[in-house]
Amino acid sequence: MNKDRVLSGMQASGKLHLGNLVGALQNWVKLQDKYDCYYFVADWHGLTTGYADLSSIKESTKDLLINFLGAGLDPERCTIFLQSRVLEHAELHLLLSMITPLGWLERVPTYKEKQEELKDRDLSTYGFLGYPLLQSADILIYRAKYVPVGIDQVPHLEISREIARRFNYLYKEIFPEPEALLTEFPKVIGVDGRKMSKSYDNAIYLSDSPGEVEEKLKTMVTDPARIKRTDKGNPDLSPVYQLHKIFSSKDEQEEVAEGCRTAGIGCIDCKKILIKNVFKVMEPIWVKSNELINNPNVLYSIVDKGTEKAKKVAGETMRLVREAMGLY
Ligand code: TRP
Repeated sequence: MNKDRVLSGMQASGKLHLGNLVGALQNWVKLQDKYDCYYFVADWHGLTTGYADLSSIKESTKDLLINFLGAGLDPERCTIFLQSRVLEHAELHLLLSMITPLGWLERVPTYKEKQEELKDRDLSTYGFLGYPLLQSADILIYRAKYVPVGIDQVPHLEISREIARRFNYLYKEIFPEPEALLTEFPKVIGVDGRKMSKSYDNAIYLSDSPGEVEEKLKTMVTDPARIKRTDKGNPDLSPVYQLHKIFSSKDEQEEVAEGCRTAGIGCIDCKKILIKNVFKVMEPIWVKSNELINNPNVLYSIVDKGTEKAKKVAGETMRLVREAMGLY
């Protein structure tokens, strides 16, 4: 029984929060049984914007792996590995660079956008321009059929398809054109009411302790017009209610919405229900993460095994590529 192959990665640039969990990781977990899944930490991609300060890259990489496993990726059911340990990605990246017109890379919208966004860094580097090409190599080397990503990654998928077509046309039909598996998910709101994001300092991290999560949710903003306990509120204006919509049952959502509108319950009561439900999602993550933090060798052996498996597939592809290009 041959399952279609799925591949996805995350850049090592910091720890993950509930937005990443709901938006990406939970979907990766779901895909584990239906597909032959390969998931990796893109630590080389982390270098493209972070090269000037690498003091935390090692830690970030480890945190990300712990988050992967904590969220429920199961090394028995999927392959988990580290990009920088599968050197074949670099070889394919180099070979593809020979056939990639500069204009294709310069036209990828994220190129200029990211440079604008990170004005404090010098991103006029060769490596940064090549970001989408390295990503293409990541995908094509597994001849993956599907790539689960958020909408922001669509331009990178587009260029990986163009490169696959160009290679297939110039040398030999080796690469299937990968398709994005777009993840539809509700926007997760941060504790200040804006989109949850590392850069807004409003996130609940998968590595936060129960005490930290409780404190963050307890002090989270609610309907700003509901000042006194007896004031009636509007749940649609409350960021807390937005989180209920993701983490609470339908019955609980109705209960807190009604309680808010009628001042039947206070904001503290409403938050207590949310805290209970967020804890339910995070408890298995805490348990698994602690296990791995206390036994780092278990973590490393999982990654070693995954890397071996990834290298096998990547190696097969590279044999085909070298042959197609007339290299020894
Ligand atoms: N660019 C992706 C991100 O920012 C990370 C990534 C690198 C990736 N290589 C990939 C995603 C290959 C999917 C497939 O998160």
